[in-house]
Amino acid sequence: MKKILITGGAGFIGSHVVRLFVTKYENYQIYNLDALTYAGNLENLTDIEKSPNYTFVKGDIADEAFIMELFELHQFDGVIHLAAESHVDRSIEDPMAFVRTNVIGTVTLLNAARKIWKGNWEGKRFYHISTDEVYGTLGAEGLFTETTPYDPNSPYSASKASSDHFVRAYGETYGLPYVLTNCSNNYGPNHFPEKLIPLFINNIIHNKPLPVYGDGNYTRDWLFVIDHARAIDVVFHQGKNHETYNIGGFNEWKNIDLVRLLCGIMDDKLGRAKGTSAQLITFVKDRPGHDLRYAIDATKIKEQLGWEPSVTFEQGLEITVNWYLENGDWLNNVTSGAYVSYYENQYLIN
Ligand code: NAD
Ligand code: TYD
Repeated sequence: MKKILITGGAGFIGSHVVRLFVTKYENYQIYNLDALTYAGNLENLTDIEKSPNYTFVKGDIADEAFIMELFELHQFDGVIHLAAESHVDRSIEDPMAFVRTNVIGTVTLLNAARKIWKGNWEGKRFYHISTDEVYGTLGAEGLFTETTPYDPNSPYSASKASSDHFVRAYGETYGLPYVLTNCSNNYGPNHFPEKLIPLFINNIIHNKPLPVYGDGNYTRDWLFVIDHARAIDVVFHQGKNHETYNIGGFNEWKNIDLVRLLCGIMDDKLGRAKGTSAQLITFVKDRPGHDLRYAIDATKIKEQLGWEPSVTFEQGLEITVNWYLENGDWLNNVTSGAYVSYYENQYLIN
């Protein structure tokens, strides 16, 4: 029985990874460690929470004494590390929360793994999940590869870049067996409605303005979250130690084109006349330091590990929109309380 620690498993991507591992690997004991911040939600996991190979642990990855105790108690064989502060706009408001969780939290986990594994690396693996945002911004041409120099522009991406460097350094200095992936923008069910796609779905449902930053000509490469979880499974089991893999959707969209596509889908689903939702589009003040374009060259993971996306963007968006329409309670629960003051502050609503 392997013991695997998944951090951030109550969040968006983490919950899909937890579900995949709990259902696919009955011979693994999966420990989901999550602090349940505003972004962590155990409702994401109600379908698997009673599985015999699943345990939830509430705790903070930056709490050194607690983490050391947890690692000593359970002697994990592997760590899949997703816990993070993940929203760029929040990082502009409060960078220290990002330093604490993303940098100090990651180093705290690395230290604990190093201490309990004591150089006996056989069968051990530390998998750090990161983002393509560490590479900074692309111009109109080109793609991020695994050798693109780091050039982060936001406090979020700077904190993720820093954590990536620590992971690499633990590999070089102590020999810690790690793998690292840098993934493009995810979308799908259970995505907290502060990020573009779920925020806009929620606003369309409630006939609220769709705040497009700047001129909307910013480009992102979108990947369905379940395809990211599949990639994480492949890299965890087949990736080579001390290697980085880029994960992407081969799916670039300008924000404004994506928003118009989404508006059209929502008009159909909600039985509204064509063009109704697009009238909600409102151009607002740009995000400071806004990266123009992200796009991933995912050739390495495709050629070396045989992974590629399994759904098209049209299929993924259809599943996503249906999920939000069928899960109104989930959406209402996460958009009440503290979310309201965050939203009002972010978009300066009186
Ligand atoms: P999320 O914000 O939805 O979830 C993060 C989870 O981490 C939450 O459950 C939260 O409670 C938990 N957490 C936060 N601080 C913690 C702490 N101090 N201790 C323990 N748990 C804590 O994020 P996500 O979108 O699911 O992203 C997961 C990971 O994937 C992150 O590392 C992120 O950088 C990376 N990533 C995200 C995307 C994307 O598009 N969302 C793309 C590439 C990489
Ligand atoms: P987001 O979902 O926050 O992801 P990231 O910043 O990590 O790429 O934003 C995706 C794109 O959408 C990004 O270019 C910023 C833009 N955006 C808006 O135009 N309006 C919004 O309200 C939000 C949240 C994002």
